Amino acid sequence: MNYELKGKFIVLDGPDGCGKSTQAKLLAEWINQQGIETSQFRDPGTTAIGEQIRHILLNPEHAAMCTRTELLLYMAARAQVWVECIKPAMEAGKCVILDRWVSSTCAYQGFAGGFGVDNVIKIAADCLERTWPDMTIILDVDLQTAAPRMKATLDRMEQKGVDYHAKVRQGFLSLADKQKNIFILDASADIDSVHKKVVKLVESGRVAV
Ligand code: TMP
Repeated sequence: MNYELKGKFIVLDGPDGCGKSTQAKLLAEWINQQGIETSQFRDPGTTAIGEQIRHILLNPEHAAMCTRTELLLYMAARAQVWVECIKPAMEAGKCVILDRWVSSTCAYQGFAGGFGVDNVIKIAADCLERTWPDMTIILDVDLQTAAPRMKATLDRMEQKGVDYHAKVRQGFLSLADKQKNIFILDASADIDSVHKKVVKLVESGRVAV
């Protein structure tokens, strides 16, 4: 193996319905098969505190929530999953796979929500121990492809409408030009084809050293 995944931090991200949770699970299985232990977490969530924050964020009754509140709550959940889960797993030499991270806040609150991507990055740098993972894989899909992949009942973020979600996608696409170690993959094909592309990218040795 000409790449080293022990103690690395890999994020799968993308618009709602891109299939990242399925792909995160398949990638973890593949890395395990290579003899490297993995830990998989979701952001926001995973910790007891993070899951409560997630519930507040996604509850459709909280329609009044402004972008700044969203941003701070996502960052708070992230600070907690870092200290409780990610950092200890990396220190134990595991390869950590995250479902979403700061890239989501850049695309949703920064780009689609109008807070500004650079402002998000500044705040992340100030309040997180680690802003960027070793590799971020953005699974890109258009809204038509994403729709049937989503659950029937939409949460507060998913209810934001077509214009917002078109901007989210644009926000993700523009991140790869801004930040190194972010890669865009077309995720419109079937699960197995997308998994093969994800593995190829991880195997390419482009996970930051
Ligand atoms: P999930 O269902 O993919 O776990 O994500 C929860 C929702 O929260 C999803 O609609 C994307 C949104 N989100 C943000 O708006 N900002 C963020 O920073 C993160 C992590 C997620």
